[in-house]
Amino acid sequence: MTQNSTDRERYQMATPHQNLFEPARFDPGRTALPRVELVKSIGRASDVVIGLATSKGQPTVIGATAELERAAGRGSQLANLLTDQGAQTDVDRLTCLNLPGIRVLAVGLGDDLDLRPEDLRRAAAIGVRHAASNGSPAPRRIVVSLEATSDAHLQAVVEGALLASWSFAKLRREPTRPTIESIGVVGSSRASQQALDAGRTVAQAVCVARDWTNLPPNLLGPADLVEQARGYLKDVRVEVEVLDEAALEKGGYGGILAVGGGSARPPRLLRLDYHPRSARQHLVLVGKGITYDSGGYNLKPAESLLTMKHDMAGAAAVIAATRAIAERGLAVHVTSYTPLAESMISGTAYRPGDVLTIHDGTTVENIDSDCEGRIVLADALARANADRPDLVVDIATLTGACMVALGTRVGGLMSNDEATADRLLDAAESAGEEFWHLPITSHARSQLASDVADLRSKKDRYGSALFAAAFLQHFVAAGTNWAHLDIAGPAWNRDAPHDYVPAQATGMGVRTLVALAQSMAG
Ligand code: BES
Ligand code: MN
Ligand code: ZN
Repeated sequence: MTQNSTDRERYQMATPHQNLFEPARFDPGRTALPRVELVKSIGRASDVVIGLATSKGQPTVIGATAELERAAGRGSQLANLLTDQGAQTDVDRLTCLNLPGIRVLAVGLGDDLDLRPEDLRRAAAIGVRHAASNGSPAPRRIVVSLEATSDAHLQAVVEGALLASWSFAKLRREPTRPTIESIGVVGSSRASQQALDAGRTVAQAVCVARDWTNLPPNLLGPADLVEQARGYLKDVRVEVEVLDEAALEKGGYGGILAVGGGSARPPRLLRLDYHPRSARQHLVLVGKGITYDSGGYNLKPAESLLTMKHDMAGAAAVIAATRAIAERGLAVHVTSYTPLAESMISGTAYRPGDVLTIHDGTTVENIDSDCEGRIVLADALARANADRPDLVVDIATLTGACMVALGTRVGGLMSNDEATADRLLDAAESAGEEFWHLPITSHARSQLASDVADLRSKKDRYGSALFAAAFLQHFVAAGTNWAHLDIAGPAWNRDAPHDYVPAQATGMGVRTLVALAQSMAG
């Protein structure tokens, strides 16, 4: 019997009504995405996704094929039929045209024909989302024809199509949308199978991160996520190491133990290592893994409590990205840390006023139990120094302040090094995720002083995203390049789905982390 299952058994014995769903039944390897393949023609597709742009003042079809023009009927052109239908070329506008035997979904691409991969990622997603949610419940066979002119464009089309085909179906008895039998991507002869595989791998990782993040807190505690990660990583060359309570105690991880101390389900520190021989650089990833953030004694208000299962989105992104990096065989050494804890209230919970000792010996005055993220990350960042990495990147749903500043679609980026910040921004841009560089000011650093300990965990409400970053920076060895990604806003979509972004968990960060590793490979 493993320590993990003992923990779960203990929890389930205490809460027998929660035994109805067996978390082990949720196999992350089977997060079923449709088959995707390169195709030369439309074949027996039920739906075909094309683009519609304005060129020289005229609506122009992007990705038309001879078969489609033929289906449009003798003498009439597809572009004209679409215009008759009221089609517009505005970005993201969708026009639906039923031809005999096939439904055409034309997505607006604007009037700049110099299309970025992200433009195609979104267009593919808008078409596929529509094909999968409107019309007959019969299984769909979708073909996406968008003139992917480079490998980056083709990968983006595959990602967009697959990300939009996913839905969180793990906890429903009946499916809510038709199944997608297959997705064909029309590729030019230059389009490589490798780009398609890369897109598939990345999309799969994003969707697994979404699944984990959406799983409710009764079904996914710290040990459960460890078990999920083990299953997910068993067929790639990633070493898995788990520090349980006893090991955390022995290693002096006073932050993780304090934050997890109030829960009946004890905390963990998960360490993953992917070390190909060809690697020249060493990247460390750290992801915040609070499987539920009640706020502790500084209890959150009711509306915030409802969605705080997603406070492990950083950890999910890191674990999923690590798998994608290993699966693609990227030539970079990647070590990932995910401190996992459930922040609850009980007689053993940590209190405002407690002083905690972090792994590196730093003492921290806990001002507010709802600052749990920076505390568990401190332990993980301190541990990471022993690996002597070239670059450390942490990712966390860390501060409401960052969401207030940047909204729900842009993440915050803070760093101790300008070139590192640029490197992250480049990776994010190539992956189609948005981050904005925020400063770590000397004022924020000056706020760290405590009356009783080395550091305090919180100061002002204003600028608290910068303070949190200054706090984290304290635990990164001087001279080590480090970046901090605050995804409190974009990890969770509280509104309706749009392009490839579903409602609720988004999988934010996975694509940036994989692109970053790729930029360090070789
Ligand atoms: N997990 C929250 C941050 C958060 C807020 C994520 C909203 C996603 C959406 C974090 O642990 C937290 O509670 N932060 C507090 C810190 C404060 C007490 C200094 C916050 O930002 O309000
Ligand atoms: Mn909190
Ligand atoms: Zn939190």
